[in-house]
Amino acid sequence: MDAQDVKSNVVLILDFGSQYTHLITRRIRALNVFSLCVNGTSSLKSITDLNPRVIILSGGPHSVHAPDAPCFPPGFIEYVEANKVHVLGICYGLQLLVQQLGGEVRVGEKQEYGRMEIAVEKSAGLFGYKNVGDWQTVWMSHGDEAVKLPEGFEIVARSKQGIVAAVENPTKRLYGLQYHPEVTHSPEGMETLKYFLFDICGITAGWKMQDVLDEELKVITNTVGPTDHVICALSGGVDSTVAATLVHKAIGDRLHCVFVDNGLLRWQERERVMQTFESDLHLPVTCVDAVDQFLSKLKGVTEPEKKRKIIGNEFINIFDAFAHDLEQKLGTKPAYLVQGTLYPDVIESCPPPGSGRTHSHTIKSHHNVGGLPKDMKLKLIEPLKLLFKDEVRELGKIMGVPPAFLKRHPFPGPGLAVRVPGDVTLENRLDILRRADEIFIQAIKDAGIYDAIWQAFAVFMPVLTVGVQGDQRTHSYAITLRAVTSQDGMTADWYYFDHKFLADLSTKICNEVPGVNRVLLDITSKPPSTIEWE
Ligand code: XMP
Repeated sequence: MDAQDVKSNVVLILDFGSQYTHLITRRIRALNVFSLCVNGTSSLKSITDLNPRVIILSGGPHSVHAPDAPCFPPGFIEYVEANKVHVLGICYGLQLLVQQLGGEVRVGEKQEYGRMEIAVEKSAGLFGYKNVGDWQTVWMSHGDEAVKLPEGFEIVARSKQGIVAAVENPTKRLYGLQYHPEVTHSPEGMETLKYFLFDICGITAGWKMQDVLDEELKVITNTVGPTDHVICALSGGVDSTVAATLVHKAIGDRLHCVFVDNGLLRWQERERVMQTFESDLHLPVTCVDAVDQFLSKLKGVTEPEKKRKIIGNEFINIFDAFAHDLEQKLGTKPAYLVQGTLYPDVIESCPPPGSGRTHSHTIKSHHNVGGLPKDMKLKLIEPLKLLFKDEVRELGKIMGVPPAFLKRHPFPGPGLAVRVPGDVTLENRLDILRRADEIFIQAIKDAGIYDAIWQAFAVFMPVLTVGVQGDQRTHSYAITLRAVTSQDGMTADWYYFDHKFLADLSTKICNEVPGVNRVLLDITSKPPSTIEWE
């Protein structure tokens, strides 16, 4: 499918704050249809500029009667009608359509949350592939309900409790579902969504990752001038690696990457990632050995935020020096900076009102490695900014990034400094941690459970306890094992290991890591704790 076909088959989601909005976008993309998500209160121009073929109004936590209830912009209904755009309102989206077009939405007497049975009342439109009287289970989450439909609308499905579950006005191409078809708790939901997109709206599927790659390469080549140079800081993680690989494909060795060994990396991390960068991906990478620079600044520092700040500042200093050296060498200033920003960061950076989501830039600045020098005046290239994490992995795969690398667990920018509470430079704490961590990760890989875990790591406990090893009493440190499952790192549960696995692991760590005589397991979810220990 060429770029023009993709552009004429865009499904746009107007986000009114539902926790499922990203999921709708991802599910539609999984059908090989390009889908974007913008704030539900965006201006009409920002909507029309995207020239969507279909618009989905998402759910949201509001009542349409609330004084601050978000709404699509003035002129929206006239625009969709004039341009023959199909619209599907989901939950709040349905209620908004009903209310804005002159129907009535009332605070429901029987609020419906969770699983619900609905029956088809009309075998046409949204349920053209069903029979009247067919039942299905769906996932509801609403307090309000549509009690009077606007002119031209009909009810096509109703819940067991008699509440409107699906409505439509086919003449005006307006549709609504009171439930969430995008969640797995609505087992037939995707079938309905597919029927809506392909049979009702006539969408053509065909968007695929190879097209994204081709298009991105074109965009980068057209953006970066023929003599411009580009820099990129590689963290060893998936996003920056995939972004750099993409830019390298477009402009070759006018890309200059830097990888910093700050002394806070995992066991043999530097050797391992440099091997991938150089041998597998042929990326031009300068590896800066800044171990002493970082560790001398961290000496004696125990306060977590202070440690983060020091690390962030050192990264900036090193990046600055790298860019200046490069300028000297090339005789010209690098013009662009590559960043591995992902789509969720872009969406989250302007959350819809009342969604309960915070401005992600605050989260990012905390989680970014201190940011980059502000006075550099580099223009940004963010080639992944329309992709979700799993799509980035797919893109990496077709560019030849090794599959094992693409599945790596996330690793925090400040590295092992957030896994050694207190002063990281005392004794050989980092060494002890690295050895124990490596044994843990290797055991997880050997057991075939690495991919089932979001993140696993060891934490150094700065406390000496008594033990007995051989015939000797010992006074050694403890290691805590942390492994969590999660969707996005925002919430997490601890991973339930097999007891035999844990017992063997504990023995191995105590036997093979000098200075450790005790192994603990962290059994706390997030919240109340966080994933890292700081
Ligand atoms: P917490 O500890 O806040 O971590 O539950 C959530 C996720 O974020 C990662 N993390 C970081 N990532 N720089 C990063 O790039 C950081 O400073 C940072 N701090 C935490 C953490 O590993 C987990 O995946």
